[in-house]
Amino acid sequence: KVISNKPLGLSSPGEEIVELKLEYPDWKPGWRAGQFVMIRPVSWPLDLVWGRPFSICNADETSLTILFQVVGRGTARLLELKEGDEVNIWGPLGNFFSKPQNRPVLMLAGGMGLAPFCGYVDTHPQPENLKLFFAHRPPLENYPYKGMAAKVDVEDIRETKPSDIPTIIARVEELVKEYAEKDGLIVACGPHPFLKTIWNAANKYGADAELSLENRMACGVGACLGCVCKDGDDHHTQVCTTGPVFKANNLSL
Ligand code: FES
Repeated sequence: KVISNKPLGLSSPGEEIVELKLEYPDWKPGWRAGQFVMIRPVSWPLDLVWGRPFSICNADETSLTILFQVVGRGTARLLELKEGDEVNIWGPLGNFFSKPQNRPVLMLAGGMGLAPFCGYVDTHPQPENLKLFFAHRPPLENYPYKGMAAKVDVEDIRETKPSDIPTIIARVEELVKEYAEKDGLIVACGPHPFLKTIWNAANKYGADAELSLENRMACGVGACLGCVCKDGDDHHTQVCTTGPVFKANNLSL
């Protein structure tokens, strides 16, 4: 059941970012940051057959939180959910990010790709080893990373115009090189061009990087083949069952 459904602000005109908190009485706290759930409200009409995939932002023993952005018909209907409405959830699904100890970890988040790192920071045994680089669009005053910013080193780049994109790319490459040189781990989530920049840099500098893909999904359980990507040998594989987290050297973007 819906506990709260709270708009946090606009990422760009007309694109609301929303925090949806769901009561999940059977939730087993065995989830890991990077995993996702499929969500389909009970009230959706039959022509909205498929659920939608969302990274788990955070969870406790009885509830889970996701972030979503209104980008289409399904997410616009999610925005209409009210406290007490019922939602079908299946998950947690997929694999997850590593949490190495005694190694520096760089989290690279692009826009909504921040979601899995909220839980990552909260469940990492050594948050002092974490740094977050966050590229996004304003205004995001209520975006739930203020709590993260209190715990980890945050570098925040607000993309205000297309001409800022080369600056973001250059900074991402520089950070990937720095973490490759100090044998750190890079964990990343965000839109495809953002991940491709990281993937290219990780291959160039031999960095240990884990990338979470945001491919479209329909079933979430390996049945529809709607989410395929290519692995490091150029073979097709399913993001929902093999991923969503892939080692950069085991992926073709
Ligand atoms: Fe259906 Fe991956 S979403 S196979």
